[in-house]
Amino acid sequence: MKALQCVELGMPDKLQVNDVPEPEILPGHVLIENKACSINFPDVLMIQGLYQFQPELPFIPGGESAGVVCAVGEGVEGVNIGDRVFAMTGLGAFAEKILAPQHAVVKIPESMDFDTAAALPMTYGTSLYALKQRAELKEGETLLVLGAAGGVGLATVELGKAMGAKVIAAASTQEKIDLCLEHGADEAFVYPTGNLDKDQQKELSSKIKELTGGAGANVVYDPVGDAYSEPCIRATAWDGRYLVIGFAAGQIPKIPINLALLKGMKIVGVFWGAWVGMFPEENKKNFEELFKLHAEGKINPEVSDSFNLDDGANAIAHLKDRKARGKVIIKI
Ligand SMILES: NC(=O)c1ccc[n+]([C@@H]2O[C@H](COP(=O)([O-])OP(=O)(O)OC[C@H]3O[C@@H](n4cnc5c(N)ncnc54)[C@H](OP(=O)(O)O)[C@@H]3O)[C@@H](O)[C@H]2O)c1
Repeated sequence: MKALQCVELGMPDKLQVNDVPEPEILPGHVLIENKACSINFPDVLMIQGLYQFQPELPFIPGGESAGVVCAVGEGVEGVNIGDRVFAMTGLGAFAEKILAPQHAVVKIPESMDFDTAAALPMTYGTSLYALKQRAELKEGETLLVLGAAGGVGLATVELGKAMGAKVIAAASTQEKIDLCLEHGADEAFVYPTGNLDKDQQKELSSKIKELTGGAGANVVYDPVGDAYSEPCIRATAWDGRYLVIGFAAGQIPKIPINLALLKGMKIVGVFWGAWVGMFPEENKKNFEELFKLHAEGKINPEVSDSFNLDDGANAIAHLKDRKARGKVIIKI
């Protein structure tokens, strides 16, 4: 079968499209003929050797895909040949077929197309867990979303609205901001790019306070990190929750811990993948909720760009270069 392979660590242009042996079915596993797979930030990190776990070379990157089950292993129950599913494997998705353990496979509703199914699990799964289980976001609260037009960002904008929050979207270009407004954000603003200096950081805090009537945001969703984090923490409301999602801007920020004391606020870590491993049944309920929200038209994953497998390296480069809006898909 054809697969996008990482044979040496580096930038996306080092990736190769190769013919590799098709995976053999194993007990407790499901073989899926992929129809679409989606890019996530960890893929960008993993091919460079910068992710928190590192597969041995050569490996096929790609954390999630959607397709049709073409074989089931001994002991698998409730999944059959011909079922439409998505799989969250963390690895191996950028290929014509993928072998997935049954616990990583979820049947998708008839009404959901494969592009949407490939775009949904990690971004919406992370964001629902972050807002519901971690931040306990309440109706009427203000939710600030950084990197709001990116994968997890846009999912959070939609979920925040669906949960009844006032959503403030922040992103780096007017085009990205417009997309957030189309997806339901109540307010939106453009923040500066590059290394924010002290004045730019103060401006960022002031803007958030201005948009929240001086009170600050009740919940901050931060997948960007670096110099963006501290000004947002400074503009968090009393009893606020600042969600540590990721560090797409590069550096892990060092935060003066007294800010948490002064604001009576919580700095809350979010590690969706670990939680899924520990509480699969809770995550299953979250997916059921996401399918319901999708059927009701309350969430609608944005697929801004799609590439074919031969051009898969460019799909990853697109995300790395900050060009993605919503999700980037590889169609198989
Ligand atoms: N904690 C968890 O469980 C979990 C789960 C999934 C993802 N994540 C993390 O969440 C982050 C976002 O993932 P994603 O898949 O949504 O990625 P994405 O689609 O690329 O979105 C990231 C956003 O970050 C912003 N950004 C700021 N500086 C950037 C830079 N130097 N390079 C690239 N983007 C930059 C961009 O928005 P602007 O251009 O508007 O600034 C971009 O839209 C990653 O750090 C990822 O590891 C964490």
